[in-house]
Amino acid sequence: MRQRYTSDVLVIGTGGAGLRAAIELHDQGLKVLLVGKRPKADAHTVLAAGGINAALATVDPEDTWAIHAADTLQEGRMLGDPRMVELLCQQAPQVIAELEAWGMPFARTSTGLIDQRYFGAHRYRRTSFVGDYTGLEIINALMREVEHRQIPILERAYISDLLHTGNRVNGAYGFWLADQRQFVIESNAVILATGGHIHIYQRSSSRRRENTGDGMALGLQVGAHLADMELVQFHPSGMIFPHELAGTLVTEAVRGEGGRLYNRHGERFMQRYDAERMELSTRDRVALANYTEIMAGRGSEHGGVWLDISHMPANLIRERLPRMVEQFQAVGVDITREAMQIAPTAHYSMGGLKVDPFSHATNVAGLYAAGEVTAGVHGANRLGGNSLAEILVFGRIAAQHAAEYVRQHSEQPVQAAQIEQAAERLAWASQQAGDFHRSLIDQLQQVVWHGAGVVRNEQTIEASLDQLHTLRSQAQQRSLGAADLAASLDLQSMLLTAEATMLAALMRPESRGAHQRSDFPATDPLWQRTIVIKPYRDQTEQLRLQLDTELIPTASEAVQAAFSQQEYSVAGRLVE
Ligand code: FUM
Repeated sequence: MRQRYTSDVLVIGTGGAGLRAAIELHDQGLKVLLVGKRPKADAHTVLAAGGINAALATVDPEDTWAIHAADTLQEGRMLGDPRMVELLCQQAPQVIAELEAWGMPFARTSTGLIDQRYFGAHRYRRTSFVGDYTGLEIINALMREVEHRQIPILERAYISDLLHTGNRVNGAYGFWLADQRQFVIESNAVILATGGHIHIYQRSSSRRRENTGDGMALGLQVGAHLADMELVQFHPSGMIFPHELAGTLVTEAVRGEGGRLYNRHGERFMQRYDAERMELSTRDRVALANYTEIMAGRGSEHGGVWLDISHMPANLIRERLPRMVEQFQAVGVDITREAMQIAPTAHYSMGGLKVDPFSHATNVAGLYAAGEVTAGVHGANRLGGNSLAEILVFGRIAAQHAAEYVRQHSEQPVQAAQIEQAAERLAWASQQAGDFHRSLIDQLQQVVWHGAGVVRNEQTIEASLDQLHTLRSQAQQRSLGAADLAASLDLQSMLLTAEATMLAALMRPESRGAHQRSDFPATDPLWQRTIVIKPYRDQTEQLRLQLDTELIPTASEAVQAAFSQQEYSVAGRLVE
């Protein structure tokens, strides 16, 4: 017997965007249900380290929301949607005030104001923080509010399908990870807040089995469009050893607090790449600089470069970066006395579901999305600290509009045929499931890392697309291993989102931000366009992807007036 749940709005994902959306829906008087595949209070947001951006001007009084928006757009290489960026930067101070009211223990200045630190490529200090565990404290604050409101959460529950009639969603289908019992959720609207897809990369700052592109794939299956899938952010600093921790985030706050980068010759190499901003250059440039040093043979014995903060007072390091101190202590490195070895790691999906800039509605009726699963804010290079602001601002906005939708549309009950179809797909996946699929996931991650990594070109992308197709046909083969239904579904989502990433990367014939093509090293002004991906079914009912491009609107006059006129003497081109 399948369990059955009903809600006005179903929120899939229990990270910051999902929790914030659920709070808003509850406060609007709607019946809301939260579902997440991880244990509650342990979504990926807890790993976000260094801080959350808002132009509070507590430390640098010159800062304004318009300068924040201008920095976000310019450093996103003008691929961000100015309408979304402006909303984000206008509303970010409000979400900080809200967090403060909900008991967030922000670091304070000596006069008691909320402190703000530097993050890369911000003109002013506008990153508020709690040590280097800001995301964890945000989740703690939001969970207290969710529990206070008694909002129900289904944890360790996997959504395998969105239920829909025509172009309208009316629920979801899934199963419990513990025992694979299945359930149906009827819901008048759904908000996807499921995070990104960077686990398609061999080295990423995600934990196992998170950021597997679930929300993007669920959306594609019901006809939702994606955008900017080629734009994947590589964080300059991930751990490089021991092997099992490779990719784990080393927060940008290390550089924000004064950390310096060195190569094997002891050279502070950022001098050659961005002499003005040095280690606080943009993420895309620092990641490319680290990559270039490593590929040119100037890296460390473990294949990284060195990040050193040991010149700063030990007590300041322990106070501002306690998690980093602990993380490296666990592998025998005392960062108050010695340098860390680090290398670029896949960190953030700047692309995702294409949403309306004002409502965060997708093109499917009743389907909304918020947070890393969406595209639009970050363009080709996300400013560190903007994602935590984004999940809260747009979690609330998506919820406000989903609530309005629910008030205007009567329920559309789930039909037995919809349930049977979702159950059939799950039965098929469960026949395939097994250790074999986990090994295919490992292979996929290597293929994507080599095909569309920090630097890509037509040859690497096409070779990877071929390998992905081979993996897809292998994935159809029945496994002989122990059943692992979630791995089988993760693999489906990863194959689909990896293909979307490769196709978009192949289509963009230029280098811009995180999209570095060795065969097209220059930025092409004609490509200041968004690549949109639309799914369709072929004659055999197979899901196919079709690509198109769209122009990006111009920023408001207030933001244009705030654009920086500063030219940086940046360098750091490609190594084959
Ligand atoms: O480096 C960091 O602490 C990451 C922050 C972010 O991605 O916004």
